[in-house]
Amino acid sequence: MDQQGFVTLLNEDLQSEYRSIVQYTQHVATVKGPEYQNIIEELKEHLGQELTHATTLAEQIAFLGGVPTVTVPEIPNVPDGAEALALDLDLETTQLERYRERVAQANELGLPDVAEALRPLLQQTQDHVMDLQGALGK
Ligand SMILES: [Fe+2]
Ligand SMILES: [Fe+2]
Repeated sequence: MDQQGFVTLLNEDLQSEYRSIVQYTQHVATVKGPEYQNIIEELKEHLGQELTHATTLAEQIAFLGGVPTVTVPEIPNVPDGAEALALDLDLETTQLERYRERVAQANELGLPDVAEALRPLLQQTQDHVMDLQGALGK
C-alpha cells in the first residue's frame, strides 16, 4: 500500500469517528435505567475522546497531504438500552481492529511519527471496548 491508500483508510477511520460522536450523543441521552447509569457516565467520557480521535485523524490526514473528509456515514437509529450498547460495542470493536492495522501500516510505510500519533486512539479504543463488554456482561 502507498501513502495515498493509507490516507484513504485514515479518512474511513475519520468517518467512523464521526459516527461514534453522533451515536454516543444519541445514546447518552436516550439509554435509561438504573442498570445503565454507570455505563452512561463512561459513554460521556468516550464521547469527549471520540472528538479528540477525529481531530487527530484529521490532522494526520492533512499532514500527509490529504483532505479530511466531512462525510458522516449512515448511522442506525437504535436509541434503546442493550441494543444501543451492543451497537456501540460493534463499532468500537471494528475501530480497534482498524487501528491495529493502521499503526502497523504506518510503521511499514516508514511513518513512525504517524504510528505514534495514532497510539492513543488504539489504547483508548481498547478501553472503550472493555467498558462496553463490562456493561453487557461479555
Ligand atoms: Fe474513537
Ligand atoms: Fe471509542
